[in-house]
Amino acid sequence: MKEKILVLDFGGQYDQLIARRVREQKVYAEIRAYNKITVDEIKEEGYSGIIFTGGPNSVYDESSPHYDPAVLDAGIPVLGICYGHQLMAYMAGAEICSAEGNSEYGKSKMNVKACTLFDDIPCESICWMSHTDYVNTPPSGFEIIAHTDKCFCAAMCDEARKLYGVQFHPEVTHTEYGRQIISNFIFKICSCKGDWNMEDFIETSIKKYREELSGKSVLLALSGGVDSSVAAVLLHKAIGKNLICVFVDHGLLRKGEGDYVEQTFKDMFGMNLIRVNAEDRFLDRLTGTIDPETKRKVIGEEFIRVFESEAAKFGKIDMLAQGTIYPDVVESGTGDSAVIKSHHNVGGIPDDMAFESIIEPLKYLFKDEVREVGLQLGIPYGLVWRQPFPGPGLGVRIIGEITREKIRLLQEADAVVREEIEYAGQEKAVSQYFAVLTNGRSVGVMGDSRTYGYTVALRAVTTDDFMTAEWSRLPYEVLEKISNRITNEVSGVSRVVYDITSKPPATVEWE
Ligand code: XMP
Repeated sequence: MKEKILVLDFGGQYDQLIARRVREQKVYAEIRAYNKITVDEIKEEGYSGIIFTGGPNSVYDESSPHYDPAVLDAGIPVLGICYGHQLMAYMAGAEICSAEGNSEYGKSKMNVKACTLFDDIPCESICWMSHTDYVNTPPSGFEIIAHTDKCFCAAMCDEARKLYGVQFHPEVTHTEYGRQIISNFIFKICSCKGDWNMEDFIETSIKKYREELSGKSVLLALSGGVDSSVAAVLLHKAIGKNLICVFVDHGLLRKGEGDYVEQTFKDMFGMNLIRVNAEDRFLDRLTGTIDPETKRKVIGEEFIRVFESEAAKFGKIDMLAQGTIYPDVVESGTGDSAVIKSHHNVGGIPDDMAFESIIEPLKYLFKDEVREVGLQLGIPYGLVWRQPFPGPGLGVRIIGEITREKIRLLQEADAVVREEIEYAGQEKAVSQYFAVLTNGRSVGVMGDSRTYGYTVALRAVTTDDFMTAEWSRLPYEVLEKISNRITNEVSGVSRVVYDITSKPPATVEWE
């Protein structure tokens, strides 16, 4: 049996991050809700170790999640984090204290004692705290192994039973030696070997879906973006032609993109792919629309209509598959934040479509993990590393009314931008780069004639998470080449400008 760590979920914010930190060290981790698995099942599954996650404020809250204390005597090492640490102490008979004045949020200086969990960690380092409740006196059999100024028992252990609790969060990067602590737990305490890799994930997923989806038909909206592409190929390997991919080409894709997607998935992977050329429908609906939010809504709604009418042609479809990845799950969980833009992912599916269930094979993976899966599945490098492209496509990069002529101009200009940045070897240094067709026209001169063409704006940003972004310092020679080529090769454009605004205050896309 493959070694694996159980991340026992008590409702914390960082559960996926914990699982990811374990997987990064080549040990498989799976998350299970505390109320969906019993101690006996944990024993049967053969986990090498268990991590209790964070969770709500207090173990004494009526609605707080608790767990069967027998887990502490199951002979499996346990690491409790934050709420998980308090819960472990509480389960082992300690009292948990609470005092607003003792809250700790953010970085704290921590002192540790020599023990297996803190092997190779200096006596003093920085950890990241987020708590009001705390363990003051550890339960019997446990000793204190770390403290901060405010937290007397920042970590505790019962080395004989291999039970460890940390009040801080080792999974966040602000904890200086967090990675080492997790590594000590999984390798030195749980005795894992670290032989898990993405191939195992692929193999297990294919096997699972082959069994679960046997004889079922599954529909997937393929956009050609990384996530839906990887989900499609993975499911195709499991259920072959029973996976039907619908690719709605709204006519607002980049130059050559529609054909590329079709060729890749139809010819290369032999998938059951239906391409719907719906440019006319989209452009008809967009006639006269200039407001950015209205454009987004129109494109989003029309996408759903096209998808629905396509799905109706197949009769009964059992399941719907989506390329949701973990950050989508986190981001969509936010409550009342202001709508800056209504993001529309191609694949936004009507609420009232009847399916048995939704399958999201990549739901627990981060973007870089999805890319790794994609490469291992044989998806071309260019597609796996494709930069983000908004669901409404060029629709939000054409300022003002969208016309066929403007789409053509922008596709040509954008192709030049991509070619030159890639030719200059800058594509990895820049996170996203594209052309925008501003609605502004200006006077130019070509030969002896006056021109009055569009102004194209070049946008290139560098970012980790797209929540904030800096404009990229592209070399002047690259900018010059792009400008020369666009004004020479794209008739109808007479000026090129470079957008030097960061996010905030601007957004990455212009609309
Ligand atoms: P903004 O313009 O909000 O863009 O700063 C941040 C990132 O999100 C992408 N983006 C979208 N992606 N559907 C998507 O799937 C959308 O509607 C959408 N709008 C923006 C944008 O390209 C950038 O990477």
